[in-house]
Amino acid sequence: MPINLENQNLSSYYRCPSNIALVKYWGKKNGAAQIPANPSISINLSDLYAETKVTIQHGNVSGLPAFSFLLDGQSKNSFHSKIETFFKRIWQEFEVVRNFHLHIESRNNFPHGTGIASSAAGFGALALCICDLEQQVTGKVFPNFEQEASKIARLGSGSACRSILPNLVEWGEHSEVSNSSNLHAIEILKPEKGNGFPLMDIVLIVDAGEKKVSSSEGHSLLDANPYSEVRYEVAVKNITNLIHAIRRDNMRSIISIVESEALQLHAMMMVSSPYYMLFRPNTVAIIEKVWEFREKSSLPVMFTLDAGANVHLLFPELYRTQIVNFIETELLPFCQNGLYFCSATGAAPVKLN
Ligand code: PMV
Repeated sequence: MPINLENQNLSSYYRCPSNIALVKYWGKKNGAAQIPANPSISINLSDLYAETKVTIQHGNVSGLPAFSFLLDGQSKNSFHSKIETFFKRIWQEFEVVRNFHLHIESRNNFPHGTGIASSAAGFGALALCICDLEQQVTGKVFPNFEQEASKIARLGSGSACRSILPNLVEWGEHSEVSNSSNLHAIEILKPEKGNGFPLMDIVLIVDAGEKKVSSSEGHSLLDANPYSEVRYEVAVKNITNLIHAIRRDNMRSIISIVESEALQLHAMMMVSSPYYMLFRPNTVAIIEKVWEFREKSSLPVMFTLDAGANVHLLFPELYRTQIVNFIETELLPFCQNGLYFCSATGAAPVKLN
């Protein structure tokens, strides 16, 4: 039942983790809003998250989204158009966006400008707040709250839809993944604790600067990329193979799929027109050190990359001491200001008071 909100300020507050893809989403279906060209798999970075609070005030009669946005207490104009596009995309379905002023305050628990993508965590948290507020304002109850939040998070930033779910998360239609959808992500697997899992992720900061080519531009360059169809087919196969490998705890196979996916993401950038590279010499130096270390130690450590120069090292929690020691002694010289972040994986978002 609708509540009278004339003079009432309602709010919602969520923490949402960032995520890293093991099978990459790179390319969108033409002519549709944020529909992936291939399915992807990710895990959340439990300790690298955004906390977002949205407070609403009744009385938006402008016919346009009305909002303010503060990141770490400061207004950020550079985010304005992305957030506005998001609100326009959900305008029809969400009364809270049509009729209210929205005051958004967000903070990341990792420093801004370290090259760690914050949009997945940020849009994940914002989507959760908006769904929660829509329920408060209209009295309706979303039968599947996470699914609804994932659906709209996708409209802010594609990969954000995966941050809403815990454990191993899949997004995008795949004939062998039941309930898979292009519209929202699903939790597909809670890997058995034991041999390979849970994984930890250490993010080595190679370059803290802004990316020269944004992800949106990168996605769109796939449309004219002569290799894109092959890439999409390989991603579909890698989804099947990765799920099998995780179920069978086949670390060798997990490593080869995850590393190949990271390199394919960057290879697609290099064969786009115009071509470009986002990794740096130190990215390559780290990868070579990881291969050398794995060969010598036989420890199951693997790298992956996002759309940037930073390197994510994934490894079973069990080997944390050895891997941190390896990083401290061999990899720090390749990190900008010796910076790295350590995170557990697989956490779900949390509603805050
Ligand atoms: O969510 P977007 O549109 O910023 O796309 C990001 C895609 C990658 O991070 C490069 C890969 C992925 O699957 O997360």
